[in-house]
Amino acid sequence: LAPHLHDLRFCKNPLEIKLIKQAIDVTARGFSRVLKIVKPGITEYEIEAEWAKEFIKRRSKFAYTPIIASGENACVLHYLQNDQTCKKGQLLLMDVGACYANYNADLTRTIPVSGKFTRRQKQVYNAVLRVLRQSIENATVGKSLKEWQTDSHDMMTEEMLLLKLITRAQVKKQDPDQPACRKYYMHGLGHSMGLDVHDVSNGQTEFKENSIFTVEPGIYLPEEGFGIRLEDDIQITKNGPVNLMSKIPIEAEEIEDLMSR
Ligand code: GLY
Ligand code: MN
Ligand code: MN
Repeated sequence: LAPHLHDLRFCKNPLEIKLIKQAIDVTARGFSRVLKIVKPGITEYEIEAEWAKEFIKRRSKFAYTPIIASGENACVLHYLQNDQTCKKGQLLLMDVGACYANYNADLTRTIPVSGKFTRRQKQVYNAVLRVLRQSIENATVGKSLKEWQTDSHDMMTEEMLLLKLITRAQVKKQDPDQPACRKYYMHGLGHSMGLDVHDVSNGQTEFKENSIFTVEPGIYLPEEGFGIRLEDDIQITKNGPVNLMSKIPIEAEEIEDLMSR
């Protein structure tokens, strides 16, 4: 039965979408709470506890072990220690989602510990944000998942040239299966999400109506002491992608404004 169930699970029905939206709403509330308390000197585990408080109050649990990664810890993709102190000037990457009634949300935001991005941090942040937004637009019914991913490599390549992380010469001689941008963006662009955070897909190769996906580009720069990932959850509809996290703050200036209050 598994192949049939897994096919069914790739496209969500209205009740499933409602529950995923509920998990996203709880996650959004957690993020607002955390924006108010992050400042230099706070520890990663204290921040984790704030997320937990909001989730438990709303009858939810962590969908997966949260990643609360300050500074270069953000470059460890599966950082789970959450035991360091956040310092002035660092960025803080939080990959956290609530699970409500067995349905999941999967959010990533990267915020400045002291409430203000440096010029360089903001440049890299906006590069990731542009790739996120274009990748959301590209997620249309019938689009090949493989092409969706490689389109993101092309966008990242252009952004990384502007950021002077890679050179034209490197791009010219790159192996198409291992493009130069993969040095700083080394994971998948997104995944199906539902009853599992990484939901089953039975080898599906393209977006379908009412599949729910994460979109999560990132740039990781251990030599500069930070990593940035931004992750939203989207619903694929026949009228185009719908960002289910569009109300969760993401613009750098909006984050700075909220943190200064
Ligand atoms: N939090 C797991 C993931 O983003 O895929
Ligand atoms: Mn995530
Ligand atoms: Mn994810």
